[in-house]
Amino acid sequence: MTQNQNTSLQAGGAPRPPEGIGQAWDARYAGDAFFYGQEPNDFLRESEPLLVRGARVLSLAEGEGRNAVFLAERGHRVVGVDASAVGLAKAQTLAAARGVHIETVVADLSAWQWTGEPLDGVVAIWCHLPVPLRAHVLNAAIAALRPGGLLILESYTPDQVGRGTGGPPNPALLPTAALLREELRGLDVEHLVERERHVSEGAGHLGLSAVVQLRGRGR
Ligand SMILES: C[S@@+](CC[C@H](N)C(=O)[O-])C[C@H]1O[C@@H](n2cnc3c(N)ncnc32)[C@H](O)[C@@H]1O
Repeated sequence: MTQNQNTSLQAGGAPRPPEGIGQAWDARYAGDAFFYGQEPNDFLRESEPLLVRGARVLSLAEGEGRNAVFLAERGHRVVGVDASAVGLAKAQTLAAARGVHIETVVADLSAWQWTGEPLDGVVAIWCHLPVPLRAHVLNAAIAALRPGGLLILESYTPDQVGRGTGGPPNPALLPTAALLREELRGLDVEHLVERERHVSEGAGHLGLSAVVQLRGRGR
C-alpha cells in the first residue's frame, strides 16, 4: 500500500530540503532498471539478524524498495518512506514480484514523522540529508524506537566526494562518525566505524567507497 502524505504532520520547524527533491529522484528512478539494484545493502544484510523476529521497522529514504523487500522477506513489518513516488511505486512492484507486503509512504522527511507504535528498528541507508535536517530526522526516528530498538545506518562520508563511485557531490550532506556521535541523542551506540569498502549496488553505487556505519539502541 502506498500513501501520499506530503503535507502530513508538522516537523517542529525542521529545515526544508531543496524544492523538488522528490521530482529530482523521480527522474533518476524513471525506467525499469533499479538504480541501486534489487539486492539489499551489505551493512543492512549483516545487521538484520540483530533485529527481533517480526520487527516493526521504519526505513527512511527507502528509494526503490530493495532494503524494505529484503526485510519483509525476513519476516519483518516494514514501512518505507521516501520523497520519490516513482521510487516507491517500484518498491511495491518489487514487493509484489517477491510475494511480500511492505507499506510505503511518499513524504518529504522534513515534514513527516512516525506517529505509530514504538519501533523495533529504524533503517537509514544512504539517507543523505542537509544539516541540520539530518539530525532532526534521525533524532525523531530514534525517539520513536522502543527501549532496545535498533538503528541501522550507513552513509558515505566527506572522503567519498570526488571518488566517482557513488554518493552526492556535496560534502555537507555526508556525516563523519564524530558528527553522528555528536548529533544523535537518546542512542546507545554499539558500533560506529568509518571505513573503506567496496560497494556494488546497481549502476548507482559501484567501487571503493568511504563510508560510516552505525548501529545503536534506543533507550
Ligand atoms: C541514495 S538514495 C538511497 C535509497 C535507498 N535507501 C537505497 O539504499 O537503495 C537516497 C534516497 O533519499 C531520498 N530522499 C532524499 N531527500 C529526501 C527527503 N527530504 N525526504 C524523503 N526522501 C528523501 C531520495 O528520494 C532517495 O530515494
